Amino acid sequence: DGRFITMGIESSCDETSIALVADGRHILSDVISSQISIHTKFGGVVPEIASRHHLQNINRVMERALEEADITLDEVDLIGVTNGPGLIGALVIGVAAAKALSFARDIPLVGVNHMHGHVSANYLQYEDLEPPFMALIISGGHTNIVEVTDYNTCTVLGGTRDDAAGEAYDKVARVIGLGYPGGPKMDRAAREGNPDAIHFKRVYLEKGSYDFSFSGIKTQVLNYVNQERQKGREINVPDLAASFQQALLDVIIQKTIAAVQERGEKRVVMAGGVSANSHLREQMQAACDANGIRLYRPDPVLCTDNGAMIAAAAYYKYQKKGPDGLDLDAYANLPL
Ligand code: KG4
Ligand code: ZN
Repeated sequence: DGRFITMGIESSCDETSIALVADGRHILSDVISSQISIHTKFGGVVPEIASRHHLQNINRVMERALEEADITLDEVDLIGVTNGPGLIGALVIGVAAAKALSFARDIPLVGVNHMHGHVSANYLQYEDLEPPFMALIISGGHTNIVEVTDYNTCTVLGGTRDDAAGEAYDKVARVIGLGYPGGPKMDRAAREGNPDAIHFKRVYLEKGSYDFSFSGIKTQVLNYVNQERQKGREINVPDLAASFQQALLDVIIQKTIAAVQERGEKRVVMAGGVSANSHLREQMQAACDANGIRLYRPDPVLCTDNGAMIAAAAYYKYQKKGPDGLDLDAYANLPL
């Protein structure tokens, strides 16, 4: 019927997700099977268990995605699959499924960089958005400020030297007893807290650097908690969550705005799981408004891992670079 249908497959961490997207921009279905309830009792994602659940779920997720989109396999023009970075055992399940389907049905296949997928979530949310623009990619595994010069090229201006922002959220949440998944729980707890209650040092690194370091904030929180406990004092969880978070967000927002201004761009997109954070969304909007920058913020469901963003990225990669072979491999580390 004239539409170009891409199937996007995502299995890099704890979400098995398959989506169907028309013309790289329109979501027909985006089925996300989360393993959160399974990993909660372990306090984090257990890689082996994640792989097994991807394997058990992937066929069912695919059937549902096709059903919800009212699409048959014969109508699928392209398969895009995350082939890194991520948990290797989890990635190979998606890649194997994609290759099997590509081979059996003679459908072209492309491997997608997960971080590139996160950026591409914006193309689904904003139909007219085209590169070039700046992007803040902020997830459980990565924190990067990049310049997206065309659909397939990102220039990295800065990244984390230790923990990713999402990792800092998750680790601090564990320390203060909020549990897994830490990010959304900290987001909620911080709503009830005072961000000025406890002072944590902001880590800006060298002047002009767009790199981040978040392990120091995590250590500061740990020291604060131990000190309070030694004195026999109760921890005020909302105040602690709000104060930790603000120390993180101040640095992230300041550096992002500085990078956008230095590059002379007028637009910045948010991408990755932490960009679902309500405080970051509000404060980034205010900072962009104050500096004449247009901000793009995908809906929270498009910020966290999903198959639709992989389909969007695959569509543009295929246009430019053609298909990958059946020797496509998965990589735990895959540079942007
Ligand atoms: O992009 P994503 O789904 O997976 C990775 O590629 O890592 O990001 C997951 C990360 C986790 O660290 C999670 O705690 C964090 O995103 N996250 C949040 C929120 N929602 C998810 N962090 C802060 N506030 C949120 N609302
Ligand atoms: Zn992700």
